[in-house]
Amino acid sequence: MMARKTSTFLQLTLVILVSMTLLHKGANGDPRTQTVKMECQNQLEHNSTIFVPNFVAVMENISDQMRTNGWGMSVIGSGPDTNYGLAQCYGDLSLLDCVLCYAEARSLLPQCYPNNGGRIFLDGCFMRAENYSFFQEYTGPNDTVVCGNQTRKGSSFEGSARQALAQAVASAPGNKGYGRAKVAVAGAMNQSAYVLADCWKSLDRSSCQACLENALTSILTCLPWSEGRALNTGCFMRYSDTNFLNNIPSNGSNRGKIIVIVVSVVSSLMVVAVGIIIGVLIWKQRYIQKKRKGPSDARKLVKILRDSSLNFKYSVLEKATGSFDNANKLGQGGFGTVYKGVLPDGREIAVKRLFFNNKHRAEDFYNEVNIISSVEHKNLVRLLGCSCSGPESLLVYEFLSNKSLDRFIFDANRGKALNWEKRLEIMIGTAEGLVCLHHNSKIKIIHRDIKASNILLDSRLRAKIADFGLARSFQDDKSHISTAIAGTL
Ligand SMILES: *[C@@H]1O[C@H](CO)[C@@H](O)[C@H](O)[C@H]1NC(C)=O
Ligand SMILES: *[C@@H]1O[C@H](CO)[C@@H](O)[C@H](O)[C@H]1NC(C)=O
Ligand SMILES: *[C@@H]1O[C@H](CO)[C@@H](O)[C@H](O)[C@H]1NC(C)=O
Ligand SMILES: *[C@@H]1O[C@H](CO)[C@@H](O)[C@H](O)[C@H]1NC(C)=O
Ligand SMILES: *[C@@H]1O[C@H](CO)[C@@H](O)[C@H](O)[C@H]1NC(C)=O
Ligand SMILES: *[C@@H]1O[C@H](CO)[C@@H](O)[C@H](O)[C@H]1NC(C)=O
Repeated sequence: MMARKTSTFLQLTLVILVSMTLLHKGANGDPRTQTVKMECQNQLEHNSTIFVPNFVAVMENISDQMRTNGWGMSVIGSGPDTNYGLAQCYGDLSLLDCVLCYAEARSLLPQCYPNNGGRIFLDGCFMRAENYSFFQEYTGPNDTVVCGNQTRKGSSFEGSARQALAQAVASAPGNKGYGRAKVAVAGAMNQSAYVLADCWKSLDRSSCQACLENALTSILTCLPWSEGRALNTGCFMRYSDTNFLNNIPSNGSNRGKIIVIVVSVVSSLMVVAVGIIIGVLIWKQRYIQKKRKGPSDARKLVKILRDSSLNFKYSVLEKATGSFDNANKLGQGGFGTVYKGVLPDGREIAVKRLFFNNKHRAEDFYNEVNIISSVEHKNLVRLLGCSCSGPESLLVYEFLSNKSLDRFIFDANRGKALNWEKRLEIMIGTAEGLVCLHHNSKIKIIHRDIKASNILLDSRLRAKIADFGLARSFQDDKSHISTAIAGTL
């Protein structure tokens, strides 16, 4: 009796441990957010007043679909500023990793602005936006291949890779466009090749097949290098000698599998075990949802915004800047265009119109503005607030009459205004501002884009660092995303 109790207890513990480990893995695979290649259209957008909100709305609309489906497609607007967008995570990413990969893609692709479209291939996902419908395209002049150039492999790996590629290409069109394979040819057990192939889900089966066959022809030219990636208009393919694939076969179905394994192992404890696993699953699901959707609801946000001095009404800012009149434009930064504005009470402000906002929700955006605006230092530009819930995301900063340092040091005439004492003072001020960012008690901010145009000068030519805080990743615990260089090298 005693022995039996102990053994059932052990089995139960084992079941819980196994199921938790598998679930943990499922939620924390590798989102593979490294960029393989980004390519921008060569045409300029047609009218930014219409283009920017359409583009932002497409990214937001796709974002909702990514969280539930792992891919998304959206069309917003009409005429030459219509925005068509498509994004897709490759089949082995969990939904949580998919959200992370998409967050990276959507924060990079807007760098194509003011061009009217572009595409970005990351190792875990793909995104493309244009002003025409490209959803059925599967081949084009920009189809390309990126080969690894570090390690040359031998003939046995080459054999494995050819077989694995052929397998993935053969299986993908009949498997919702997603194929993967691991092959080691006989007699070369340690020369495995790993392959991933994925067609965009807007394509039909025959277009998918045609795309993969094109991709196969070009990717084979990478052999005998250890890595190859085909970046085609309608599909992505990769082979490697290292196992880059996540363990999850596809979104959702891994959960079913875990339950099946567990149930067959300990049938006598089935009811209890299933109960516990379902409990864990529900908890996990809630936890993930909470992570994705944020803790509270829209009504609470509306109240916070109404009561907050950080909140600026969109219409007030629109009026202050003369409807974002070109004559009020102060400059164009990595995150958006900056306009000078005058508030009804006469205060001068600088309004930054973000052409993207990688906060998924107004509340997250507001919370971040709240934190950043609390960072005060004589060498940092004050963030006064935002229009967080309007049609576009706007940030409001203090206005500095002398604009930025680059306008002085790269201009022979204005440069004379800065003698060496002034320049030294600017350097020390900049350094003090950076120290404040790095050692701030509430949040530590790494700027990642210090350059002359981000150092503003006040009326007495004292340095004030601009544009900090925005580059922070929305997921603080994913350090591999937030350490990427944000702007100009
Ligand atoms: C193709 O690539 C060229 C050069 O990189 C670029 O100028 C062009 O805009 C690209 N075309 C498309 C459709 O992205
Ligand atoms: C852009 O569109 C807006 C709204 O339709 C219009 O008021 C504005 O004149 C347009 N700008 C240009 C440069 O065509
Ligand atoms: C996204 O766009 C589609 C049409 O392209 C529309 O049917 C859908 O309601 C939109 N979803 C959201 C959340 O805006
Ligand atoms: C896309 O934008 C360009 C200019 O930005 C315009 O010439 C072209 O007509 C637009 N395409 C469509 C399909 O409207
Ligand atoms: C390998 O490729 C990278 C990026 O494409 C390049 O920077 C590097 O110089 C290449 N190395 C060699 C040895 O060709
Ligand atoms: C794997 O193959 C390499 C030669 O390609 C060999 O040097 C190495 O010892 C092998 N490793 C194992 C574990 O068999």
